[in-house]
Amino acid sequence: MKQVVFISGASRGIGRITAQLLHERGHRVFGTTRKPDTDDLPFRMLALDVTDDASVHTAVAQVVAEAGRLDVLINNAGYDIYGAAEETTLDELLAQMDTNFVGAVRLTTAVLPYMRRQGGGRIVNMSSVGGLLALPYNSAYAASKFALEGYSESLRYELLPAQISVSLIEPGQVRTDTLETSIRSADGRHARAVAERARALGRRAALQPGAVARVVARVVEAKRPRLRYLVGGQARQVALLKQFVPEWVREALIMRQFVTGPDLPQAP
Ligand SMILES: NC(=O)c1ccc[n+]([C@@H]2O[C@H](COP(=O)([O-])OP(=O)(O)OC[C@H]3O[C@@H](n4cnc5c(N)ncnc54)[C@H](OP(=O)(O)O)[C@@H]3O)[C@@H](O)[C@H]2O)c1
Repeated sequence: MKQVVFISGASRGIGRITAQLLHERGHRVFGTTRKPDTDDLPFRMLALDVTDDASVHTAVAQVVAEAGRLDVLINNAGYDIYGAAEETTLDELLAQMDTNFVGAVRLTTAVLPYMRRQGGGRIVNMSSVGGLLALPYNSAYAASKFALEGYSESLRYELLPAQISVSLIEPGQVRTDTLETSIRSADGRHARAVAERARALGRRAALQPGAVARVVARVVEAKRPRLRYLVGGQARQVALLKQFVPEWVREALIMRQFVTGPDLPQAP
């Protein structure tokens, strides 16, 4: 059945490709950006800043006014900061949480009354492998995605009786602007070297955004969407590492790869 889909952060990257694919598959798509006069897209673009309550309510009300309903919310807007936890300022941490986690909560809370009234709906939250396993120098991002994972898992149970499903998409690294810009808060030689390493690994392993979009489309169209969807080989490896490898082995592997490896500068 064709759905009315609202997707945050559709101006570029994963969100844009996902919105395009869902539009091509015949769904009625509303994408969002903080700068709505960007370029011409085949789907409807609305102004939205997920950190602003009024902006969230206006955008959701606009979708319902235009389409008469809202079947699927995709919480995709987000970004990644990389740097030593000690060097990440409280403002940087709060901003990361506000966009990646609280932003999704704001939108979810705003759409739920409509979905309940309609008798059902779907919420799809863009998590990450960073929401399954925390790597060093990525604490703020990991915190935001771990929060999103816990929130989604809890919410799923609460909403299943109302025929509203909650799903998490967990991609490995994806080739988008984020891969190149996320290093900006990494200060210090060691943090920078580790961030460069994660970025290089990401470039080698990175998925195309289309691979994530296809999984989101499956969730939008599934009869009974599941809670978790891993996307790509990197994500599957991380999930196996988390499930089957003892914690002390995992810790030794991560320390060698990202903290004390012989080809890294001395950790401070
Ligand atoms: N790239 C990866 O390796 C990767 C891997 C796993 C998960 N993810 C997750 O996938 C999602 C999309 O990432 P991406 O790589 O596609 O990023 P991207 O290319 O940088 O695009 C980010 C999108 O989020 C929007 N956005 C950012 N802050 C916002 C705010 N405060 N309010 C509303 N919109 C905001 C941007 O819109 P405007 O700037 O136009 O407003 C843009 O459309 C994120 O949640 C990210 O954590 C990414």
